[in-house]
Amino acid sequence: MVYSLLAAPSLLLLAVLPVFGQDCPAIPSLASYNNTVLPDLFTFLNGQKVLTLADWACRREEISTLLQQDELGILPDPPESMTSHFSGNTLTITATQGGNTITFSPTITYPTTGTAPFPALIGMGGISIPSPAGVAIINFNNEQMAAQDTAASRGLGLFFDLYGSDASAGAMMAWAWAVRLIMDALEQNPAARINTARVGVSGCSRNGKGALVAGAFEPRLVLTIPQESGSGGTDSWRISDFILSTGILTQTASEIVQENVWLSSNFDQFANTSVDKLPFDHHSLGALVAPRGLFVIDNLGYDWLGPFSSFGAMVSARTAWTAMGVTDFMGISQAANHTHCIFPSTQQPQLNAFINKFLFDQSTDTDIVETAGNYTFEVPDAQWAPWSVPTFTE
Ligand SMILES: *[C@@H]1O[C@H](CO)[C@@H](O)[C@H](O)[C@H]1NC(C)=O
Ligand SMILES: *[C@@H]1O[C@H](CO)[C@@H](O)[C@H](O)[C@H]1NC(C)=O
Ligand SMILES: *[C@@H]1O[C@H](CO)[C@@H](O)[C@H](O)[C@H]1NC(C)=O
Ligand SMILES: *[C@@H]1O[C@H](CO)[C@@H](O)[C@H](O)[C@H]1NC(C)=O
Repeated sequence: MVYSLLAAPSLLLLAVLPVFGQDCPAIPSLASYNNTVLPDLFTFLNGQKVLTLADWACRREEISTLLQQDELGILPDPPESMTSHFSGNTLTITATQGGNTITFSPTITYPTTGTAPFPALIGMGGISIPSPAGVAIINFNNEQMAAQDTAASRGLGLFFDLYGSDASAGAMMAWAWAVRLIMDALEQNPAARINTARVGVSGCSRNGKGALVAGAFEPRLVLTIPQESGSGGTDSWRISDFILSTGILTQTASEIVQENVWLSSNFDQFANTSVDKLPFDHHSLGALVAPRGLFVIDNLGYDWLGPFSSFGAMVSARTAWTAMGVTDFMGISQAANHTHCIFPSTQQPQLNAFINKFLFDQSTDTDIVETAGNYTFEVPDAQWAPWSVPTFTE
């Protein structure tokens, strides 16, 4: 097994190249979708099977489009103008659109070991994993970009100053848009001494939800580490609804849209009626990260986080990596109860394996699916994922 990302050029191309729309099946009307199980990752909405890497590029586009339309809101095109400069430890990024201008300033904490240009992790509201040796941390103030205080936060923050308070994007998509600008700014500023081919993203809890969305929508990120992200992050809407129905208090779609503004208001219609009408679930969101690195960190101690929902969704997502022949580029680790967002030392070796593979290009064993719970879940799963996994041909 060759572990280097660079040794998988066709997979990397898949991750970064846009799709030519005319080669892909049209995305049909969603009105009739109604399914209790996690939608088959490997079947287009029109029923056609996904058999090749080229098919997957189209399916990925379909999933991305539907997630934007129905749940996360639209990721805008790059702004009309964007400038950046680096000074001290601060990247200053200015974007202009339609006569409006915003400026935001991520700061970089440099490692005390290693050599420039450094690999880096973008911290969605900071990181809650221990800072890895030799890795720079880019501190992104996501709440300045899009507020996440309450349901009354809709449309507040720099992103909405630029695109209007009625932009469809929820807070998480606004953050993903800003992460794209941070990557642009890092590329424009070699003085920042970041190796832009070795940048990942991480965050915990609500910011873990945001880290997953950023990883899904910014293809230059080579590693995504959502930590204890729960519903709206690594959980399945459908499985979380089921868990709540068994009497276990779990965050669900109908709760989340009343709690905060992480999602587009376009999602309310599904959250208020039935998530079975969604032609995707969060295994689909996770699968957008493939074939890049994804390491999902969970904590079994909090029912609210829906750890079984995360396990089912992420084991299902992992089939996208399996279809590409790189199953081990995606890992899942669920630790026993500990304080929320305090990273337990038991997960450190697994975290190191992912950091070393994706940020340092080392050959490490990242074939990790572990839970301290007594869950079993494999695809096909009769209740949740009754579909089979192809091996993509080129
Ligand atoms: C969705 O399917 C269920 C059966 O699985 C049915 O009870 C329900 O009425 C359907 N909903 C819609 C909107 O078609
Ligand atoms: C969803 O339900 C909430 C709370 O009852 C309500 O405020 C909102 O208008 C509803 N939205 C839609 C699209 O049905
Ligand atoms: C989980 O751990 C936290 C922190 O130690 C503790 O407050 C909480 O009671 C624990 N929960 C359970 C279900 O044991
Ligand atoms: C293990 O499974 C049993 C029922 O099968 C359940 O009651 C128990 O809570 C589970 N334990 C954990 C840690 O998930």
